[in-house]
Amino acid sequence: MDTVAPPGYVHGYSARESRRLADQADVLADLLHAGTAYPAGSRVLEAGCGVGAQTAHLVARSPGARLTSVDVSPGSLAQAMARVPDAGVAWHVADLHDLPFPDAAFDHVFVCFVLEHLPDPGRALAALRRVLRPGGTVTVIEGDHGTAAFHPASIHAAAAVDCLAQLQADAGGNGLIGRELQPLLARRVRGRRRAAVHRVRGRHPRAQDVER
Ligand SMILES: C[S@@+](CC[C@H](N)C(=O)[O-])C[C@H]1O[C@@H](n2cnc3c(N)ncnc32)[C@H](O)[C@@H]1O
Repeated sequence: MDTVAPPGYVHGYSARESRRLADQADVLADLLHAGTAYPAGSRVLEAGCGVGAQTAHLVARSPGARLTSVDVSPGSLAQAMARVPDAGVAWHVADLHDLPFPDAAFDHVFVCFVLEHLPDPGRALAALRRVLRPGGTVTVIEGDHGTAAFHPASIHAAAAVDCLAQLQADAGGNGLIGRELQPLLARRVRGRRRAAVHRVRGRHPRAQDVER
């Protein structure tokens, strides 16, 4: 496993983080993937696949789709390949800002818990739009730590969440990005047309753009 994270990647690549990603994907699968089923034969790009935790669910729900999954971390990609073997996924080590694919190479793009780590998510979406065919769709799932609520109220729990958001901001990311998805997608993927945002639960707003 590689131990050097890209600058600004707050989680790092420990074994514990790999387990967290897998647990997160499995626990939230019904919420995050409800409605995400890609037609057989369609070309789907998963950007920032990590250790393949979401890839497993994508493959299970869209067995006939032609999935390409990329991550900037070779170590994570190796784990993803081991987690989702023999599923026909095309794996690539790549930076999503500089993808090794031609324009309009994909019918659908899927991004989960990645934009929140990037200093310029608008630039990332523009790069993803390049490889999306006209009329293709983009699904973006991101969190928003600012929507966490506790009962009974706890100043300590609230301080811990604030600290998490601050650490992510210090690293160049944005743990509150969930609330910005609609304008980001509207600007960067669909021009002036509106993007649809579905809030699937407080901490995990989800935006699904229906047309490039
Ligand atoms: C929190 S993990 C999410 C992984 C996966 N999408 C999931 O939900 O389990 C974020 C992933 O984005 C990757 N990443 C960060 N910056 C990237 C970039 N510029 N290009 C491609 N992947 C990137 C990281 O290496 C990491 O694997």
